[in-house]
Amino acid sequence: MTTLMIRRPDDMHLHLRDGAMLQGVLPESARHFARAIIMPNLVPPVVTGDQAAAYRDRILAALPDGMAFEPLMTLYLTEGTDADDVAAAHASGLVKAVKLYPAGATTNSHSGVANFDAVMPVLDRMADIGLPLCVHGEVTTPEVDIFDREAVFIDTVLAPLRARVPGLRVIMEHITTQQGVDYAASGGPDLAATITTHHLCINRNHILAGGIRPHYYCLPVAKRESHRLALRRAATSGKACYFLGTDSAPHVDALKEHACGCAGCFTATNTMGILAQVFEDEDALDRLEGFSSAHGAAFYRLPPNAGQLHLIRRDAPETYPEKILTEAGPVSVFNPGFPVHWHVAG
Ligand code: NCD
Ligand code: ZN
Repeated sequence: MTTLMIRRPDDMHLHLRDGAMLQGVLPESARHFARAIIMPNLVPPVVTGDQAAAYRDRILAALPDGMAFEPLMTLYLTEGTDADDVAAAHASGLVKAVKLYPAGATTNSHSGVANFDAVMPVLDRMADIGLPLCVHGEVTTPEVDIFDREAVFIDTVLAPLRARVPGLRVIMEHITTQQGVDYAASGGPDLAATITTHHLCINRNHILAGGIRPHYYCLPVAKRESHRLALRRAATSGKACYFLGTDSAPHVDALKEHACGCAGCFTATNTMGILAQVFEDEDALDRLEGFSSAHGAAFYRLPPNAGQLHLIRRDAPETYPEKILTEAGPVSVFNPGFPVHWHVAG
């Protein structure tokens, strides 16, 4: 038996939803994570500082007694976003980032940005005050193949945007490609990338070969194996520009197992055990703490967490519930497809 003690981790990209779903999924994250960057793609989206404050209150109200968890709030960038409101929400300490969804790129992104000229005043102000922009990096042009959308976004949207707004701090969210890995490392201290648990585990065959597996469908969609291997090398490299953002994105099973299924993998329950297994398999267990508990906080200029997370390696593989049962409906837990020997002891 081997044990591993790491600083308590942060999830730098998390969907908690609202209402009954929030109530059901929040303990799954709070059990292991001290803090999380909370995605604002509710219906309607979290656009203003007041909306973010109200959402934060709902999250804290849903937290079970005895659990500690700090939601790090974000604002959803729209073409109508007010730069003064963003700056005030940042100055008060409430808001830690602004999220850019290209309009139509993913779940609940129709209020996102189509015309970048409209958001320049907000981006310029963010560069001035050092407030990071979290970017969903996919073009939405129907002509671009879904497997190429991230790479095309980097060349045609992200690189020009960063040139246009010098000093803007950017997090490339949930990168899925070698191109994302390379670009993130090339940008200096104001550029970073989050990597999800599931993109370290699956490639596109897992979604499509031998039958369609809707619970592996997420956006950006998993790419071919060479990209998964590039992500594993990046996550386990020890480089500070890569850190954990699970993108745990719960949808009830009825909407995943559907003729037009929703995008999102629910990984909150078993992420830390899976990551320990991945890092062990890559001979990089000593770098798990940097990836899950240090690099993200450093980029966001947050103090490191005080608490710790204790993991134990057991010979018998860990078992997880196939689903969690929420009042909104059952939500299937991500199945990594390989045995996980690491147990989170607390
Ligand atoms: C996310 C969701 O369901 O909100 N889905 C996903 O596949 N990752 C949205 C997102 O982060 O793209
Ligand atoms: Zn997401």
